[in-house]
Amino acid sequence: MTPNLLILGGTTEATALANALAKAGVKGTVSFAGRVERPIRQPLPQRVGGFGGAEGLARYMRAEKITHLVDATHPFAAQMSRNAVAASAQAEVPMIALTRPKWDPEPQDKWQHVADIAGAVAALERAPLRVMLAVGRMHLADFAPNPQHFYLLRLVDPPKAALPLPDAQVIVARGPFTEPDDRALMQEHRVDIVVSKNAGGSGAYAKIAAARALGLPVIMIDRPSVPERHEVATPADVLAWLSHQETDRGV
Ligand SMILES: NC(=O)c1ccc[n+]([C@@H]2O[C@H](COP(=O)([O-])OP(=O)(O)OC[C@H]3O[C@@H](n4cnc5c(N)ncnc54)[C@H](OP(=O)(O)O)[C@@H]3O)[C@@H](O)[C@H]2O)c1
Repeated sequence: MTPNLLILGGTTEATALANALAKAGVKGTVSFAGRVERPIRQPLPQRVGGFGGAEGLARYMRAEKITHLVDATHPFAAQMSRNAVAASAQAEVPMIALTRPKWDPEPQDKWQHVADIAGAVAALERAPLRVMLAVGRMHLADFAPNPQHFYLLRLVDPPKAALPLPDAQVIVARGPFTEPDDRALMQEHRVDIVVSKNAGGSGAYAKIAAARALGLPVIMIDRPSVPERHEVATPADVLAWLSHQETDRGV
């Protein structure tokens, strides 16, 4: 059977995998949730929008004759990752996750670990500060209970509605970012503290390295848990898995 992959994307890793698959002549489709206005163009066909839960994803894979599923979503896209594991079992489509190792603190880092967004909000229940809030558009409203802070926000798209934070400045930019640029940005806006998800990878690490260089504290949001699954870190690992799968099936 000729492989026909479904890649759950929206990350640099998914784009890198799509490039590697296109180069290797492997058939596949990249799926986006539809959260950003201009997703990065992929060298493979793409589709946009939710599937309708695990059942919807299983149905889609059967209808499209998907042979392999790759969950290359962001480590914080936990619902999609749970659905992927369930749908893979339901539709009997083998699955692998392409994901980035999490960041670990270095000795000079001043991280306060929190379990989730609510934990970060609670950690900001304090006197006014200048906060770089790098959690993405979807979670800004969660921080409304702490309107006393100035928030520096970096978003992929310009906000369409009024911000839920009274004292905020938006910078529209898409990574990867660099440590010197992020350091300059933090100095320019006199940032006191950074709030970040433990995304892993290099593109979003600049703000963590910049905070270290400036001696700034970071409220680090730990990753949500996802079900046990086979995880790899590079597109080459996915290609190797694919060829093992084919060998196992005797193709
Ligand atoms: N969360 C982050 O911090 C973050 C950062 C950068 C990029 N992203 C990317 O943004 C997308 C959404 O992230 P999220 O945190 O909102 O996910 P999520 O909370 O885990 O997913 C919520 C729902 O969105 C749909 N969905 C998510 N990813 C999808 C995909 N790649 N293709 C089709 N449908 C998808 C699914 O809807 P149905 O149940 O209807 O199928 C899913 O149940 C993901 O592709 C992720 O890789 C997320």
